[in-house]
Order: sequence, then C-alpha cells, then structure tokens
Amino acid sequence: MSGKNFLFVPGPTNIPDRVRRAMDIPLEDHRAGDFPRFAKPLFEDLKQIFQTKNGQVFVFPSSGTGGWEAAITNTLSPGDKVLQARFGQFSHLWAESCKRLGMDVQLVEVPWGEATPIDTYREILEKDSNHEIKMVLVTHNETATGVTSDLHGVRRMLDSISHPALLAVDGISSIGSIEFLMDEWGIDLAVSGSQKGMMLPTGLSLVCASQKALALGASAKCHRYYFDFTLQDSANSDGWFPYTPAMTLLRGLRESVNMLLEEGMPQVYARHARYAGAVRAAAQAWKLDLCAKDASTYSDTVSAICVPSDIDSGQIVKNAYQNYNLSLGGGLTEVAGKVFRIGHLGDLNELMILSALAGTEMALCDSGVDIELGCGVGAAAAVLRVGQSSS
Ligand SMILES: Cc1ncc(COP(=O)(O)O)c(C=O)c1O
Repeated sequence: MSGKNFLFVPGPTNIPDRVRRAMDIPLEDHRAGDFPRFAKPLFEDLKQIFQTKNGQVFVFPSSGTGGWEAAITNTLSPGDKVLQARFGQFSHLWAESCKRLGMDVQLVEVPWGEATPIDTYREILEKDSNHEIKMVLVTHNETATGVTSDLHGVRRMLDSISHPALLAVDGISSIGSIEFLMDEWGIDLAVSGSQKGMMLPTGLSLVCASQKALALGASAKCHRYYFDFTLQDSANSDGWFPYTPAMTLLRGLRESVNMLLEEGMPQVYARHARYAGAVRAAAQAWKLDLCAKDASTYSDTVSAICVPSDIDSGQIVKNAYQNYNLSLGGGLTEVAGKVFRIGHLGDLNELMILSALAGTEMALCDSGVDIELGCGVGAAAAVLRVGQSSS
C-alpha cells in the first residue's frame, strides 16, 4: 500500500523523527569513562517526568510488565496481602502477576468501564485494623476501557484513615501524557513503559520508587535479581548499569525526555486533553458511547468506543487496517467484539488526529455502522481548530 501506516493503537505509539535520529547511531561502549556524564543527568531528568524530587527512577530493559514485577518483588514478601480492583485487562493481568509472585490478592471486581472504587477500598482498609494489607494497587489508566482513576483521591483516602499501605500505580499508559504527580499524590511505586507516552520502541520499563518503598528492600523476601533495586542503585548512583544497558533505547529516551521537558509537562497534559476531547466529540457525533461510564474518568490517552450490538468491533479494526492502513486497537477479552480503541497519545498533532478519525469513520461505514461520513471529523475539527474565525 502506498503512503504510511497510521498508528493509532494505544501503544506502541509514533516515534518522533528526533527520537529515531537519536537512536540511529553506532553502538557505544557503556563502560567508557565518559558514560556517567550521559547517564546521571538522564536519571535526574526522568524525575521530572514522574514529577518527583524524592523518588528514585530505575530503568530496566523490559516491557512494562517487568516494571510490575520490579515494584512488587522489591517491596513485598510472599504471602503479603495486596488490594486491587479489576476493571479491565491490564488491572486483571497485574493482579494475576501478583498472585504468581505469591501475593495474597484481595480483588475487588468492578464492572469494566468503571474506575478504582475508592469508597470500597476505604471500607476494606478501615476493617484492616492490623494493617495486614501491605499495598494498594491502582491501574491509573486502564488501557482496555479508556478509564482513568483518581490517584489523588486514593492517597487522600489512605491518609484520612491513616492506613500505611504502599500506594503502587500502573502508569504505563498515563505517565508522560496524563497528569501524574508522584510526590504530591504520595505515590510509592510508579511503573511506566517506553512505548506509550515516552514515544519510544518497546523495551524499557521505567519504575519510580519513593523513599518509603526503597526502605522496604531490606525486609522484602521475594526472590529477585535482574529487577533488584539495590543492584541497580549500586551502579546507577555513579552513572553505570549493573548489566549491559539497552544503549540505543537509552539514547532515544534521552531525546524523548528532552522533547517532553522542552514542551513542558503541563503543556503535554493539556495537548493530550485537547486531542482526547476531539476524539470524544467525534464519538458523540457518531452516536457511539464510550466504554468509560463516567465523564470524570474519561481517559486522555485512549478512547474505547462501543459499537452497536449487531456489529463486531473486530471487523471495524480489520477494515480500518485493510482498507485504509489505519491501526486501531481492538476490544480485549471481556469487551472483545464490543469496543474498538483509538489511542491518542504520544507524538501527535491535530491533523494526525483528524486523519485517524476520517479513517475510522470510513471503516465504521464499511462495517455497517450507520453514520454520516464527515460528522465525526467535523465535530473533532471544531474542537481542534486554533485560528480565529475570519467572518
Ligand atoms: C495499563 C497497562 N499496563 C500494563 C501494560 C503491559 O505493558 P507491556 O505490554 O509493555 O508489558 C499495558 C500495555 O498495553 C498497559 O496499557
């Protein structure tokens, strides 16, 4: 097919030319004497992405899933109780990984499309007078349903009942795109990945730990080696890595961090909010509901859009790809066939969003959804245009 693929899955995302160029270099000697001059400032600057002064950032060569494992194994011991809500495929998988790592997971079932149930968490934690629950897990942005949870609300709730559990957050599809304030919201562990808001290929997990979380390393009995924070710290603190670092990705990371900080994190968040508003305006014009039930939880990085019950959303994704070279996300497990997803995060601009919506609209029509061509694009353009009217 001529032209380019339009990548609108909710990760991996488009890699900016600047980042691609930064990675198009010969491999380097990671033991060279000047390597720390590259690595140390990178660790410092990454803190600004997590919005932390007190936390410590670790960079692992793994996908985001490895970051989950690092967060758990560095702070907990087998048999420890953790509290988690399951409201989508990624909160489900994090809970599954905790179980496999030997945790006693207290799972709160929440309908897909809803967010972290803070009141239910409070009820459970209030009854936990012996503080057996060691960690509260929150999937900040459930990528399967396009739902963002209120992290600040969870922190306020924990403080209001003086519960000492760690607050661990999966920010894989939020950090670097949606407001995330590690220190201000009292987050103890935050997990992110390279292939979403960081605009890089898959292959790095970024984990930020608070001082409280770091202090638990000495008593945490989970087996760990590759993901051990102390092993990393012993090398990272002088600007080295304990094993061969993913050099090419680190060069890309340096450039993507530069780009985010040059734009400014508040501006990055605002840009994502604007694009999300445009996509939601299109969905409304198509008269299709979002999977997210409550407007206050709508995600600014991914919209999961419900299709009429007689239509298979998988067919829409197929048609978008085959007919228009547009990659959309499908519905996962419980919502397979029922929703399709538009990822609107990372290196995007207005016209890229409109192109994706035009392709989506055509694929919707091709799949038998009764919409008027152009209505979604028009509604989104009205949200996105920045110029003054000449009339
Ligand atoms: C919220 C969330 N958590 C975890 C993951 C898993 O990350 P990875 O596929 O990088 O291991 C994803 C991937 O899409 C995700 O969106």
